[in-house]
Amino acid sequence: MAILYRTIAVFTTISLLLSTFLTVSVATSFSPTDNYLVDCGSVVDSTVNNRHFTSDRNLFSSEGSITLKSVDQAPNLPQIYKTARIFTEKAKYEFNIVEKGIHMVRLHFHRFNFTDAEFHVTVNDYGVLRNFTGDDDESRVREFLIWVDLGKVVIRFFPSRESKFAFVNGIEVISAPKDLIEDDATSVLTNGTERFSGLVKQAMEVVYRINVGGKKVTPFNDTLWRNWIPDDEYFKGSDGSEKVYFLGRIKYRRGGASREVGPDNVYNTARVVRSENGVVPRVNMTWEFPVSDGYKYLIRLHFCDIASVSIGMLYFNVYVNGNLAYEDLDIADATDYVLASPYYIDFVVDDEFSSLGLISVSIGPSSKSVEHAVDGILNGVEIMKMNNTLGSFDGFVSTEMILSRCPNRRYVSLFMSMVAFMCILMSVWIVIQRRKAKKGFGWLRLSSDNVPEDNNPKTANRV
Ligand SMILES: *[C@@H]1O[C@H](CO)[C@@H](O)[C@H](O)[C@H]1NC(C)=O
Ligand SMILES: *[C@@H]1O[C@H](CO)[C@@H](O)[C@H](O)[C@H]1NC(C)=O
Ligand SMILES: *[C@@H]1O[C@H](CO)[C@@H](O)[C@H](O)[C@H]1NC(C)=O
Ligand SMILES: *[C@@H]1O[C@H](CO)[C@@H](O)[C@H](O)[C@H]1NC(C)=O
Ligand SMILES: *[C@@H]1O[C@H](CO)[C@@H](O)[C@H](O)[C@H]1NC(C)=O
Ligand SMILES: *[C@@H]1O[C@H](CO)[C@@H](O)[C@H](O)[C@H]1NC(C)=O
Repeated sequence: MAILYRTIAVFTTISLLLSTFLTVSVATSFSPTDNYLVDCGSVVDSTVNNRHFTSDRNLFSSEGSITLKSVDQAPNLPQIYKTARIFTEKAKYEFNIVEKGIHMVRLHFHRFNFTDAEFHVTVNDYGVLRNFTGDDDESRVREFLIWVDLGKVVIRFFPSRESKFAFVNGIEVISAPKDLIEDDATSVLTNGTERFSGLVKQAMEVVYRINVGGKKVTPFNDTLWRNWIPDDEYFKGSDGSEKVYFLGRIKYRRGGASREVGPDNVYNTARVVRSENGVVPRVNMTWEFPVSDGYKYLIRLHFCDIASVSIGMLYFNVYVNGNLAYEDLDIADATDYVLASPYYIDFVVDDEFSSLGLISVSIGPSSKSVEHAVDGILNGVEIMKMNNTLGSFDGFVSTEMILSRCPNRRYVSLFMSMVAFMCILMSVWIVIQRRKAKKGFGWLRLSSDNVPEDNNPKTANRV
C-alpha cells in the first residue's frame, strides 16, 4: 500500500513538473496553427534544426516529376538541400489553411549542377519568381508574407520553356504571429512623412534581415526560424561609431516588440555613436541596401537601448534615402522608460524614391542629443518588397500572363482528343484516320503525366 502510495506521489510530482514545463514552453515559444514543412524530392522525412520536414513522396507519381539527390557532400549542407523535386511540366503544391491571416511562405532552392533550370513560381495570386534559375549561391531561401483568407496556399511551378525545368528543395508554409505586421506605417516622402495603411493585407517579400553589430542568427536561434545576417557588408561607416553587445536580459514588454518580432540575439547587439570629450558628434551612421527599382519597400528598424547608462538621454534622427523620417526619436518614451526594451518603427518608401537602386538608412544625432551620452543606435533592419500593381515581385508580368503562356495541357489535350475522335468518325480514309489517331495519342500521352494539374481551368484562372 505504502509502495503504491509513493508511486502515485512520484507520478503526481512528475506530471506536475511536466505540466509546469509544458506551460512554460508554450508560453515562451510560438506555435503556429498552420505549419507545413516539406522536404521536396526526398523519400524520407528529415529533421533540420529540430524541425520536422515531411517528404512529398506521396504527392507526386514517378511519371510526373523526377527526384534528384545531390552529390554535394558538404557536411554542413542541411538535409533538405540534398534532394530536389524537378518538374518538366507545370505543377503545384496545395496547402489547406486553417487560420486566416498572414502566412510566411518560404521556398528553398539549392541548385545542384543544373544548367537547364528556368522557371516561374506563383503563390496564390502573386507572381513571386520569374525566369528563375535558382543560381543564388548563399541565400537559398526566398520568403514571402502573404495574407490568406481563401483557405488555401497554392504554389505553382512553371518551366519557362519546353526545354527547361523547374525545381524546389523545400517548402515552408507557416502562420505568422498576429503581432508580426501592424497595419499602419509611416511613408517617407521628399517633402515629409505621411501615414501608410494596409500593410497587413499587402503581400511582401523579405529582401534583407540584418542583425546590426551582431552575428548571423540562424533558424535554429530565431523565434520564427528566420535568418538574420551581420550588417558589415551594408554599413558605410562613420567616424567614431562602435558595435555594442549586451549581456543582460532583453525586457520584452506587452504592447512593445515581442520576441517573435525580433529575437534576443538581434536586440542584444547594436551600433552606436556617442559623444566623446563632451561633444556631440556631428556624424551619421549609414547603411545602404541594393534593391530593384519600381517597387514600394517596407523598412523596419529595430531599436533597443542596450548602450545608455541612464534612461532619457538618447535622442536621434532617422533618415531614409536622405529624407528625414523621424526627428528626435526618443526610444525611452516609446518603451515606458525601460532600458533594454525593444521597439521598432515601420517606414514605407515609394517606387520613385528607390529609383537609384539603393535604400539608405542613416542614424545621427538630433538637436536634442546631449553630451556624455549615446547619440544614436540601431539594432536591426528588415527590408521587404511589396508586389507591384500587377501582383508581381519580379518584373512587370501578371500571374494571368504566366498562366496563359503555359496553357493547361490536360484541358487542351481533352479538347484535342475530342477533335481527333470526331475526325476519326468523319474520316473515310484509313490513312487519314491513322494519322489523326496518332496525333490524338500524342496529346493524350501528355495528359497522362500525373503531376497534379488543374483539372478545373476555372480555378486556374481565378487562383
Ligand atoms: C549532375 O550530377 C549527376 C550526378 O553526378 C550526373 O548524373 C548528371 O549527369 C550531372 N548533370 C549535369 C548537367 O552535369
Ligand atoms: C523569360 O525570358 C525569356 C527570354 O530569356 C523571355 O522571352 C520571356 O518573356 C521571359 N518570361 C517572362 C514570364 O518574363
Ligand atoms: C508631398 O507632396 C505631394 C505631391 O506633391 C503631396 O501630395 C503630399 O501631400 C505632400 N506631403 C506632405 C507631407 O507635405
Ligand atoms: C546561436 O546563438 C548564439 C549566441 O548568439 C551563438 O553563439 C550560436 O553560435 C548560435 N547557434 C547557431 C546554430 O546559430
Ligand atoms: C545625416 O544625413 C542627413 C540625410 O542625408 C543629412 O541631412 C544630415 O545633415 C546628416 N547629418 C550629419 C551630421 O552629417
Ligand atoms: C499587390 O497586389 C494586389 C493584388 O494583385 C494589389 O491589389 C495591390 O495594389 C498590389 N500592391 C501594390 C503596392 O501595388
